[in-house]
Amino acid sequence: MRHLLDTQTLSRETALRILDVAEDMADTQSREIKKLPTLRGRTVVNLFFEDSTRTRISFEAAAKRLSADVINFAAKGSSVSKGESLQDTAQTLEAMGADAVVIRHSASGAPRTLASSGWISAGVINAGDGTHEHPTQALLDAFTIRKRHWGEDSRGRDLEGLSVTIVGDVLHSRVARSNVWLLTTLGAQVTLVTPPTLVPQNVNRWPVDVQYNLDDAIDNKPDAIMMLRIQLERMQAAFFPSEREYTRQWGLDSTRLARLPADSIVMHPGPMNRGLEISAEAADSAQSTVREQVANGISVRMAVMYLLLAGDRDQAVKGVDR
Ligand code: NCD
Repeated sequence: MRHLLDTQTLSRETALRILDVAEDMADTQSREIKKLPTLRGRTVVNLFFEDSTRTRISFEAAAKRLSADVINFAAKGSSVSKGESLQDTAQTLEAMGADAVVIRHSASGAPRTLASSGWISAGVINAGDGTHEHPTQALLDAFTIRKRHWGEDSRGRDLEGLSVTIVGDVLHSRVARSNVWLLTTLGAQVTLVTPPTLVPQNVNRWPVDVQYNLDDAIDNKPDAIMMLRIQLERMQAAFFPSEREYTRQWGLDSTRLARLPADSIVMHPGPMNRGLEISAEAADSAQSTVREQVANGISVRMAVMYLLLAGDRDQAVKGVDR
């Protein structure tokens, strides 16, 4: 693997390999000393042109636990705000010896541009580009579903036979897109539940069912329900009458939570708008995997960086007791 740009072109085999290496990484994270020497001497640059808390910190923690050196580069306060181009920024990073660049950008396609430009030789990891994709989020979501479903036996398994319902602002969500591709590649059945105004135009070409009624979707007893954040910052128009109306029709409140099967899991990529798309009760319930998702994110990002920068799986698990 040279880069991780999307999940749409990720094969089942590569996806499972990432998830399996992530299992090995997760095992190391329950030890007292969490740090592995694997990427000693390598440099990972976090290049964030959009605000982020958890994703940036997660990549930073993952790189540090593999003993890589980490440079955090936030666009605000940098020469980018003085008009420096992506090309100049990238070439500066190259000159500093970056081995991997983790990029978040508001323009869909920016990571691919960087990877195919020839400006840098580093591996590129997409940490979210516009409304396009957020592949490591989907990988950590798949990892979370797989682990909850198969427990200790999850290595090597896919998501065949499982159903996942993704609810909310699909139109603006790169998390939804990456999950649609990855979860279906892994054999899951994906249903989208959205207000009619927040359905992407080309959704008929996606391998999903589209529904508009959340109560009907809950009646179908999904194995996992993933609530998306309403992305107010990407909305230039009114996509629903009011927040109260959105919550009434598409929010996961305590009544809907109670109607979900007891073993269905409740997911959210964060940051949550508590009381809007998800009630506090649902977010904090025993079925919620919100905090697990954050913890699993570190293991999955360790796996991706390892596979990009070090290669062979057997080495990754050297010294890992199974
Ligand atoms: C997501 C993102 O940035 O796309 N969040 C994240 O990665 N933690 C989802 C969101 O912002 O709603």
